Amino acid sequence: QSSQPDPAKLAAARAAVALVEDGMKLGLGTGSTASIMVRELADRARAENLSLRCAATSKATADLACDLGLKVETLDEVRWLDLTIDGADEVDPDLHLIKGGGGAHLREKIVAAASDRMVVIADPGKIVDQLGAFPLPVEVLQFGFETTRTLIRRALAALDMEGHDVMQRLKDSDPWVTDEGNLILDLHLEVIHDPVALAHALAAIPGVVEHGLFLGMCDLAIIGKADGSVVELN
Ligand code: A5P
Repeated sequence: QSSQPDPAKLAAARAAVALVEDGMKLGLGTGSTASIMVRELADRARAENLSLRCAATSKATADLACDLGLKVETLDEVRWLDLTIDGADEVDPDLHLIKGGGGAHLREKIVAAASDRMVVIADPGKIVDQLGAFPLPVEVLQFGFETTRTLIRRALAALDMEGHDVMQRLKDSDPWVTDEGNLILDLHLEVIHDPVALAHALAAIPGVVEHGLFLGMCDLAIIGKADGSVVELN
């Protein structure tokens, strides 16, 4: 992160951190916006001597939070969370999300599911009328990777969504490997008319570990603006 955080992301992060109360168990998201939030949270926790227990959605976030002095435990140690604050790649008017641009959506979804409340923080560029312009990340097992890709293509065809690229995510020129040791396929769909049907179809494929559609999980989206103001969507 540069020394000057993006002002819109910072505004959203600050507004979300203001929701934190002493004694809370928190889920910490992944990505550039979530990183800004973790820094703001650590500052507030230190200044107000807050007692917080945190579970992180990625190794990167766990390392950052630990370095900043936050108490990070495994999800099984914390077990249930009062609040998770995370970023998103797209947010639609129903607060359905695409997540996983950072490749962490598997842990992010488990942490969100373990939370009483999930708050998404984002800049205005993440707001869309319909999901799908951002390629949908799908985490898949290494075993049978090409079979799983074929099954995904067939599932898309059954939903009249054939003809779109199903691309393996790379890091430099090597396969992207997630924190859980899996691979990622990015589905370039352009528009997802029926996110619920697509989510069900992807979840039914054996080699799919988790897809990046978060439906009905987000309770509040805080959209920061460059002038420091925020808009709340719920
Ligand atoms: C991580 O896997 C993602 O779900 C992130 O939450 C998402 O990519 C948002 O990241 P930025 O805040 O960096 O845009």
